[in-house]
Amino acid sequence: MLIYPFKYLKESVQVSINPSSRGEAIINQFSVADNHRYAELKSETQKQEFLWSRAALNAAEADLKNIKYQGKKPTIENAHISLSHCKEGVAAAFSEQLEVGIDIETKRENLVRIAQKFTTEDEIARFDSEPHTTLQFIWGIKESLFKLYGYGSVDFKTHLEITSFEWDPNIKQGWGIAWISQTCKERTQPIQCLVQTAMVGEHYLCMATHRIPTIPFESARTVLREWTPNDAPLLYELNMNPQVVRYTGDAGFTSTQCALNLIRNYPNYQRDGYGRWMVIDKSTGNPIGWCGLKNNQWGTDLDFRFLKAEWGKGIATECAEATIEKAKSLKLSSLIGRALSENIGSWKVLEKVGMHRYKSVGFEEFAEEFNIAEKDLDSWKGLMLHIYKLELT
Ligand SMILES: CC(C)(COP(=O)(O)OP(=O)(O)OC[C@H]1O[C@@H](n2cnc3c(N)ncnc32)[C@H](O)[C@@H]1OP(=O)(O)O)[C@@H](O)C(=O)NCCC(=O)NCCS
Repeated sequence: MLIYPFKYLKESVQVSINPSSRGEAIINQFSVADNHRYAELKSETQKQEFLWSRAALNAAEADLKNIKYQGKKPTIENAHISLSHCKEGVAAAFSEQLEVGIDIETKRENLVRIAQKFTTEDEIARFDSEPHTTLQFIWGIKESLFKLYGYGSVDFKTHLEITSFEWDPNIKQGWGIAWISQTCKERTQPIQCLVQTAMVGEHYLCMATHRIPTIPFESARTVLREWTPNDAPLLYELNMNPQVVRYTGDAGFTSTQCALNLIRNYPNYQRDGYGRWMVIDKSTGNPIGWCGLKNNQWGTDLDFRFLKAEWGKGIATECAEATIEKAKSLKLSSLIGRALSENIGSWKVLEKVGMHRYKSVGFEEFAEEFNIAEKDLDSWKGLMLHIYKLELT
C-alpha cells in the first residue's frame, strides 16, 4: 500500500518510497530508452539501484514505457518525474501537473562541518526541528530544489533560499516555501516552490514542487494576476490606510519589507493552486488592490481590498464576478463570504454577485477564530458578522 508521506498535494503528486519489489520483473515494462540505459550499466550495484528506482516510479503510477532521456536525465512527456537514491533507500515522485524534485537521505554526519557552504544562520533560524534534523532537511530540501530546477549550475547557499518552514514534531512532517533565484535561458524568472519534508523510518525525505502561475484573467476594467515581490509597496499602502483596514482585522505592516516577506512566503498559489490576486487597472497598468480566494478551515472564501480612491466605481463587484468564474473553472464546489455588518460596501458586493446570507453571528462568537488586531477589539463590539455562501455546482 502506498502511503503519501507529506501534508499537501496528495491529489497532484504520487510519491513512492522503498517499494518492496526490487525485482527483475520490472524489466518487462522498460521503454526502449531504459533498455539501452540498463544494458550499459556495468556494476551489479548500479543495476540493482536502477531496477529499484524503476519499481519506485512504477509504484508512483508513472508509465515506464514512456521514459525517454534528456541527456542523462530520465523524463516522461507531459509529466514530471524525480528519483533519488541513498544507502538502502529509493524515492520516486510523479506528477502530471507539477514540476517536482525529490530527495531521500540517511543520516549524514558531515553536515555540521559543511553547513556554512549550503545554508545561512537566518535560514537555520526558520526551523524549529532539533539541530541535526534541521541541517538534514535544509540539505535535502536544497537537493530537491536543485533537481526541480534541472539546469545545473546552482549554488545551494546563494541561489536557493527557504523563506519559511513549519515542523510538526508529532507527525514528523514539515512544510514551507522556498525560492530558486538562479535563472537561465529555460528559466528566466526566480520561481517559488512549496517544500515538504518527512521522517520515514531512518530516512529523511524532502520534496519540492512548483506549479505554473495562474494565467492572468480579466474583468471589464481590470486584470487579475498573482502577487509578485514588486507589489510590496501597494500592499503596504493598502494596509497603512486605517479606512481600508477598518473592518478587516489586520494589524497592518510596519514596513514595505514586511509586505515583501508576506509576498515571498505566501504559500497559497503553490499549495492550493489559487489565492488572492493583484488587481491591475487596465487603463493605467497600475495595481489598485486585490481580490481572490483563500482556502480556510471554514471553506474557500472570497474577499477583496482596494485603494480608497477606487471605491464606489463597481470595481469590487466586477472583480468578484471574475473571481467566481475562475473558481468555477477550478472546479471548486462553493464559496464563503464574510463581512461585518457595518462594512456595507463589502456585504453589498457579496449580495450583488449572488451570494446568499445564511447566518449572522455576534462579534463575541467569531472573535476567537478571527485574528483580530488589538486596535479593533473595542471598536467592533456589538457588530455582527454576516456569513454568505454561493454554491458553484
Ligand atoms: C468593500 C470594498 C471592497 C467595496 O469596493 P467597491 O469597489 O467600492 O464596491 P462596488 O463599487 O462594487 O460597490 C458595491 C455596492 O456597494 C455599495 N457600497 C460601496 N461602499 C459602500 C458604503 N461604504 N456604504 C454603502 N454602500 C456602499 C455601492 O454603492 C454598490 O451598491 P450599488 O450597486 O447598489 O450602488 C471597498 O470598500 C474596500 O476595499 N474596503 C476596504 C477593505 C474591506 O473592507 N474589504 C472587505 C473585507 S470583508
